[in-house]
Amino acid sequence: MKVSKKIINLETESAFAILAKATKLVSEGKNVINLGIGQPDFPTPKNIQEAGIKAIKDGHHGYTPSNGILPLREAVSEQIYYDYKVNINPEQILITPGGKPTIFYSSLILGGEGNEIIYPDPGFPIYRSMIKFSGAKGIPLELSEEDNFEININKLEKLITKNTSLIIINNPNNPTGSFMKREKIDEIVKMLDKYPDIYLMSDEIYSKIIFNDHEMPSFLIYENLKDRLIVLEGWSKTFCMTGWRLGWSLWPKKLYQHANKLCVNDHSCPNVIAQYAGLEALKGPKDEVEKIKKEFEKRKNFVHKKLNELENMSCFEPGGAFYAFPNISKTGHTGQKFADIALEEKGVALVPGTSFGDSAKSFVRLSYANSMENLDKAIYRLASI
Ligand SMILES: Cc1ncc(COP(=O)(O)O)c(C=O)c1O
Repeated sequence: MKVSKKIINLETESAFAILAKATKLVSEGKNVINLGIGQPDFPTPKNIQEAGIKAIKDGHHGYTPSNGILPLREAVSEQIYYDYKVNINPEQILITPGGKPTIFYSSLILGGEGNEIIYPDPGFPIYRSMIKFSGAKGIPLELSEEDNFEININKLEKLITKNTSLIIINNPNNPTGSFMKREKIDEIVKMLDKYPDIYLMSDEIYSKIIFNDHEMPSFLIYENLKDRLIVLEGWSKTFCMTGWRLGWSLWPKKLYQHANKLCVNDHSCPNVIAQYAGLEALKGPKDEVEKIKKEFEKRKNFVHKKLNELENMSCFEPGGAFYAFPNISKTGHTGQKFADIALEEKGVALVPGTSFGDSAKSFVRLSYANSMENLDKAIYRLASI
């Protein structure tokens, strides 16, 4: 049997492998604090849970349109207007099983032989994997500690060639927790004005977890990008709905039908129960979202302070999401070795920086989606590595 070359090119997300390893250690009776996986540690808000249950009882059991039910796409449009004062036609909104399909579809539509796609390094590992799968050449854009893990525009511009078809930007960023403010986004858009044929995929999945009262500088507001902007968004992080598998994306008119065809071919339609729950999330009370953000900010302050008190590491201050990305080079270990020791000897699950690209060898990602008590214990354990 011959396995397709494309499949061999696929990579994975090691956070899931680390989760499996940590779960196995726990089942063997070990005490493991899991700071590996990127999902909020809060339950889905009650009103959203109830809407899911009601959807089942109301008889919503069948297929829906492949792009999602119209009331949900309209609610996304209304939310975009509320957040950014931009009018978006619900016919440009696609509802998908989580945010990940947007990475898949934009890579398939704009990738392929001969095209180059620029992606952040360190960055969410699925970007590189899907770019390679599509046959395109992945061009890593290094985000460095000296730049606070923000995009260095000169570096970005130098990577652009006549073959660049797509640039992927993720703000706030996984795995570093870095956050670029409006001024920086303005500068990026100004630079992109020189390259009108290049598409942009803006991964804004952490748009509601931003600290110090900063506003989300979405790319959605720029009129000059509207024919070449794809936005990845969803319910997973904002509403603690990772397991419901629900995301939305915005597509330029000329790409929408391609993305929608991929939906029909891939999954027919998003889960109908999740769609009704997602509708309640957007239409119902949002106080939980604000409460969760505040809690993450409290933890960020705690973790940032505690990590910088340790002799063996230093940590840049995150501006959003729920990750810290300490530099552990003073320990003399690579991030991979450090994460191995942390899990096997200290009972703390972390993800090595190299799981997010080749540039972050001396870093580990710590997800602070865990209780203060566990965070305190975990950092105490890490101090002795
Ligand atoms: C930056 C980024 N984009 C996309 C996703 C995918 O989200 P979902 O679980 O909704 O597919 C994640 C999930 O961790 C992420 O961190």
